[in-house]
Amino acid sequence: MIKIYIGMSADLLHPGHLNIINEARKLLDSKDGGELIVGLLTDKAIASYKRLPYMTWEQRKIVVENVKGVTAVVPQETLDYVPNLLKIKPDYVLHGDDWKTGVQAKTRQRIVDVMSEWGGEVIDIPYTEGISSTKLNQVLKEVGTTPEIRCHRLRRLLDSKEIVTVCEAHNGLSGLIVENTSIDENGHKIEFDGIWISSLTQSAAQAKPDIGYLDTTTRMTTLNDILEVTTKPIIYDGDNGGPQEHFIFTVKTLERLGVSAIIIEDKIGLKKNSLFGTEVFQEQDNPEDFAEKIKAGKQAQVTDDFMIIARIESLILKQGMDDAIMRAKTYLDAGADGIMIHSREKTFDEIKEFATLYNQLPNRKPLVVVPSSYSQVTEKELIENNINVVIYANHLLRSAYPAMVNTAKSILENHRCKEASDEYCMKIKDIITLIPGAK
Ligand code: SPV
Ligand code: MG
Repeated sequence: MIKIYIGMSADLLHPGHLNIINEARKLLDSKDGGELIVGLLTDKAIASYKRLPYMTWEQRKIVVENVKGVTAVVPQETLDYVPNLLKIKPDYVLHGDDWKTGVQAKTRQRIVDVMSEWGGEVIDIPYTEGISSTKLNQVLKEVGTTPEIRCHRLRRLLDSKEIVTVCEAHNGLSGLIVENTSIDENGHKIEFDGIWISSLTQSAAQAKPDIGYLDTTTRMTTLNDILEVTTKPIIYDGDNGGPQEHFIFTVKTLERLGVSAIIIEDKIGLKKNSLFGTEVFQEQDNPEDFAEKIKAGKQAQVTDDFMIIARIESLILKQGMDDAIMRAKTYLDAGADGIMIHSREKTFDEIKEFATLYNQLPNRKPLVVVPSSYSQVTEKELIENNINVVIYANHLLRSAYPAMVNTAKSILENHRCKEASDEYCMKIKDIITLIPGAK
């Protein structure tokens, strides 16, 4: 009895996949039968090189194990086939022949070499033309998502990725940018994992100071614009959550909309942006009172998916590391699903020190950071310090503003708009077609 191994993600099962499975069936028939084992890439394996799949591993497994000819579905925990191949020692590995060139060529060669140890063979199946996963993914994005799927996605990302990267959006358009911008890095598609609804940038975009002036209803209008054009998970900046009675409503509203998490900060009184530090009067909440607010929020939510993340302002307010860690313990004990630690230092040192202590806590939950002032820190360093989420909290708005000022100046200086149009602006054709459905 021979064994055939096929590795796949199978998030969007299309004729290309079925063709390879059919070829495997034919091969089995010609050899008097055997096993057709699908190595189904886990979320973690997929997230290591592209977007998290739409379906969970369990959902994808149900689909694949019901495809005619498949006799077993096993998890493939890494992009690399080798660990599974060494365990299973298949006679054949089948794959689309598109992997003979480009970044996948090395992966293929490694498999050929390993298989040769037991006389196994790699068979390249002619690629099925006319089906593009990229196109399918685009269509799926246009279809959109549901609140449940979106809400759960942050927890899935936390389980699958070394670090979850989140970028600020302050209106529908910037939401589209966070949703759609990607780069190719050595054959891996890199994009943001989620969206931060920042109080600072939403206030600034509406020409309001970041002092909690925008009420929750106003903030929901912007949030809704962003929800409409995106599918990625959303983390909402809830300032201090307001009075407990208000916080309960906010939690329920956000959860119903499919937001994945709210971050609330342990401050009281008139809200001032944390990056002012001790230059302005800012008062920290009593840890016990803030813990009560967290508890009330946790009790208010309906699903297990929604996350309440507690933001500690001790370092911002120069209250010391011990105070920050004491609060982390208190908030985790109260049921917080994660901790955000903030700093306005120019170096990563105090966050690193906090992370080292925090990582030893027995009930440790995901740790979130916002490197606005220590912007030189790399994602690699954050990963090395076990930090789970990085929020780029204000960069789209901060880059949009000077770009607009330059354009305004150019028009004033030239007494016409040609220079601004040519130098600073996207083409008219591009702006009128930018938003799907315009034509
Ligand atoms: C925000 O983006 O509104 C934040 C982060 O809360 S900070 O501005 O650094 O306080
Ligand atoms: Mg804020």
